[in-house]
Amino acid sequence: MKIMRLIILTCFFLCGCQSPIKPSQPEATLETAETMDTLPQRPDVFSFSRHDQVKITHLDLNLKVKFKQQIMDGFVTINYKVIKPQANQLILDTRDLKIKRVESIEAKKTHKLVWRMGQSIEGLGSELIINLPDNHAPIKISYETMPQASGLQWLGAEKTSGKKHPFLFSQSQAVHARSWIPVQDTPSVRVTYNANIQVKAGLKVVMSADNNNQQAIDGIHTFSMQQPIPAYLIAIAIGDLQLQTISEHVTIYAEKEILQAAAYEFASTENMITATEAMYGKYRWGQYDLLILPPSFPFGGMENPKLSHITPTVIAGDRSLDSLIAHELAHSWSGNLVTNALWQDAWLNEGFTSYIEARIIEAIYGTDRMLMESTLIYQSLVEEMSELSEDAQKLINPSKTSDPDDYFSGVAYDKGRFFLEWMEQQVGRPDFDQFLNGYFEQYAFKSITSQDFVAYLEHNLLRQFPHKITEKQVDVWLNQPGLPEFFTPPATQIFTVIDQQVETWLAGDVEAKQINTASWTTQEWLHFLRALPPQLNTEQLHELDHAFQLTQRKNSEIAHDWLKISINNQYQAAYARLIDYLSSIGRVKLIKPLYEALMEHPDLHNLAMNIYIKSRPGYHNIAIKQIDAIVGFKQPE
Ligand code: BES
Ligand code: ZN
Repeated sequence: MKIMRLIILTCFFLCGCQSPIKPSQPEATLETAETMDTLPQRPDVFSFSRHDQVKITHLDLNLKVKFKQQIMDGFVTINYKVIKPQANQLILDTRDLKIKRVESIEAKKTHKLVWRMGQSIEGLGSELIINLPDNHAPIKISYETMPQASGLQWLGAEKTSGKKHPFLFSQSQAVHARSWIPVQDTPSVRVTYNANIQVKAGLKVVMSADNNNQQAIDGIHTFSMQQPIPAYLIAIAIGDLQLQTISEHVTIYAEKEILQAAAYEFASTENMITATEAMYGKYRWGQYDLLILPPSFPFGGMENPKLSHITPTVIAGDRSLDSLIAHELAHSWSGNLVTNALWQDAWLNEGFTSYIEARIIEAIYGTDRMLMESTLIYQSLVEEMSELSEDAQKLINPSKTSDPDDYFSGVAYDKGRFFLEWMEQQVGRPDFDQFLNGYFEQYAFKSITSQDFVAYLEHNLLRQFPHKITEKQVDVWLNQPGLPEFFTPPATQIFTVIDQQVETWLAGDVEAKQINTASWTTQEWLHFLRALPPQLNTEQLHELDHAFQLTQRKNSEIAHDWLKISINNQYQAAYARLIDYLSSIGRVKLIKPLYEALMEHPDLHNLAMNIYIKSRPGYHNIAIKQIDAIVGFKQPE
């Protein structure tokens, strides 16, 4: 998930255009409408909350799910801690919530509290300001979500595999929890939670929590999450879900049509847990379940604790795309246990996780596969960075933006990963593993900033190895654009051989069908497709397609790369497959580049728009927002 609008946004702000918030002077904008003007600037620009004053600690959710109206209706009871004794208000984030009543609860009696909606900022929602009761008793908020809740996708039965029951899933990261729960929606604040969720009989509910009911009574499903987590990790999904326990810690939840295939595909999960525990200490969350979502899920995966949400597009039939599971599992240490305090520090979550993902893949599948993935990633990173502003190429990214998703570029993921790999190479694996172990121990269940990490690094690694890693080098990694010149990019002989084969084919020395591809894995196919020149003629495309059945490939990544080549060279024989692909998958990473490629060819604008109009109703809000902008779609008034 690498969203890049940073350059456009930066430019947008520099042009002085009207914008919902002005990141160049966030304090000024936020303070003017502020009534609590004695309070300092908000600790997190993407949250209204003043958790430096009053911090929430626990939520009790009671929600009834109404599929017909596409709303959740009920209440949340909030426990909190008053940090500054003089503080007299609790400020929460909301977005498109109908707040009905706010009360305090004491010995089962309720008392009305004074509350009001404060400032609104586009994309971030509205602040809910509640006057605290004198005795600091828990606060009960009765509310309803709205059908357009940005963190929920409601799917009609026709959009599920079974076609009989509707489906609902949440996606709270980065700032969408507030669209279904009034909450301090910042990764700096952690809560435990309990939930009672009422749905009609026949549907199963799962959450990022312990599941207390194999048998729900009266359609009420109960959950509890006893470890404190930030709001972006609160998750729910409801549907006609079946389950299969595949190992000690792992149960797979999915619609029955794909359950078997998922169980086969993700069979390495238990071994991945064991391998990660051996490197970084105990898995602290009990169960590690996987929920396979409908294909409209906008991401590859989401690391909701105890229950990762997973796209079905990685079910390739040969386990070749399961590094996604390694990634989401790795977040159980980097992200869920030690969390970035601010979205600006996204690399602390995603860079560490991408590094651990690679370590897991190496442990399970060996160095060849890890190196192939690393090399593919390196090539994409270089390409992506060439389009980013200098600031956006820095791990400690000083750019301002109104959308926290902008911090999740390849820089946070892959430059972060290469930084950690590089440090590992300098000090050696055993010492680096020990260092990371200590880091997870030290900051478990805490939210930290890049500066906290740097201080820890200086004390616990640089001091021990002053001649192996210098402060200057660390500074180059963190605060300079691009990749350091002292970094050696990953490479693999396996790809060099493929490069040579591409060369001989292009030179006309061999036919495509003579290339020996019999043992190629997904990663080799991807490299092959990426090694082809941008311009190919129809004859060449036919030859490749005929020799390798590329248009018919079921592997979503290989199909993606081939369809992109087909668009760029107007290879019409692949258009039917393109239409089918774009209308059946909603994962942004796979669909966005194809719409972008279509829009680069004026001849294909109509095709793009026609496909989009047909597919848009099946896409998630997160995808719609991005693809609308790419194809220039305007909602009819
Ligand atoms: N936490 C992210 C997904 C995310 C990031 C959602 C930012 C919303 C805002 C997840 O762990 C992730 O990185 N997913 C990647 C997986 C890939 C790098 C293996 C994805 O979805 O592509
Ligand atoms: Zn991630």
